[in-house]
Amino acid sequence: MIREWFTYLTTPCPQPYRRMGFLRECVGIESRYRRNRAAWAPHLDRSRNLILAAAERCENRDTVLIFGAGLLYDIPLSGLLARFDRIVLADLLFMGPARRAAGSNPRLELATLDVTNSLQALADGRTDLSVPTAYLDDPAISLVVSANVLSQLSIVPNEFLEERYGQAEEASEGLGRDLVRAHLDYLSSFACPAVLITDETRIVRDRTGAETGTVSAVHDVPLPEGGDSWNWEICPLGEIDREHSVTHRVRGYSDFPGNR
Ligand SMILES: C[S@@+](CC[C@H](N)C(=O)[O-])C[C@H]1O[C@@H](n2cnc3c(N)ncnc32)[C@H](O)[C@@H]1O
Repeated sequence: MIREWFTYLTTPCPQPYRRMGFLRECVGIESRYRRNRAAWAPHLDRSRNLILAAAERCENRDTVLIFGAGLLYDIPLSGLLARFDRIVLADLLFMGPARRAAGSNPRLELATLDVTNSLQALADGRTDLSVPTAYLDDPAISLVVSANVLSQLSIVPNEFLEERYGQAEEASEGLGRDLVRAHLDYLSSFACPAVLITDETRIVRDRTGAETGTVSAVHDVPLPEGGDSWNWEICPLGEIDREHSVTHRVRGYSDFPGNR
C-alpha cells in the first residue's frame, strides 16, 4: 500500500488524466502484475512474439510506434531496438521502467499522447469524440502497434463520467462502442503495417473452473476475422476472491487489416 502511494505521488501524469483516474489505474495494474507474474507470463510472451513477428516482416525499419506502452510488460524492447532505428512509446503516462529505459537510450522516445484525442472533452463532461490523427502523416512510421490498450479506452472515462456527471450505463456502453470503433478506424488508417493486440472477452469462472459469466471487453464491437487467440489468466483464484477467477480471451493480429 505504501509502495503504491509512493508510486502514485512520484509518477508524472498530466492533468486531466490524473484527475480522471488513469494513474490510479496504472498503479493498480502494476500491483496486479507483481501478484500474478507467473499467470500473466504466457500472455505477455504471446504478445511480445506477435509484435516481433510483425517487426520481422517489415520492409522499412525506421520507426515503430506503440500505443499503450506505458507499463512495458508486453513490449519486446530489445528485439525492436535491434530491428528499428527508433521506438516511440505512446501513452498517457509512463511508469518507472519505461522512463528509465528511455532515459538510458536516445533511440527510445516517450510520447505523451491520448490515442482517442477526446479525453480533454470527456474530462469536461462532453462526449462528442474527436477523430485521432496523430502520426498518420509521419512517413518515418514503419510499424504501428496497439498493445493491449483498446479495451482500456473506455474504462476510466466511463467510471469518471458515471461518478462525476451521473452518466447512465446505456450511455457508457454507447461511448465505449464509439471509442473502440474510432481506435480500430485510426489503426486502419496508417499507411504502414499495423499490429492489434486486445482482450476481446472477459470470462468469469467459479472455483471448479466452470464459466459463470462472459462479457465483451470491446462493447460488442465485432473484430475482423483472423488473428491469433489465446487466454490471459488475468485474475487467478484469490486475486478477486477465493471463489472466482477471471480469464481474458485475447485476440492478436500481426497484420491488422487497413487501408494499405
Ligand atoms: C492494460 S495497460 C496495457 C499494458 C501495456 N501495453 C504495457 O505496456 O504492458 C493499458 C495502457 O493503456 C493506456 N491508455 C489508456 N487510455 C489511453 C489513451 N486514451 N491514450 C493512450 N494510452 C491510453 C494506459 O495508460 C495503460 O498504460
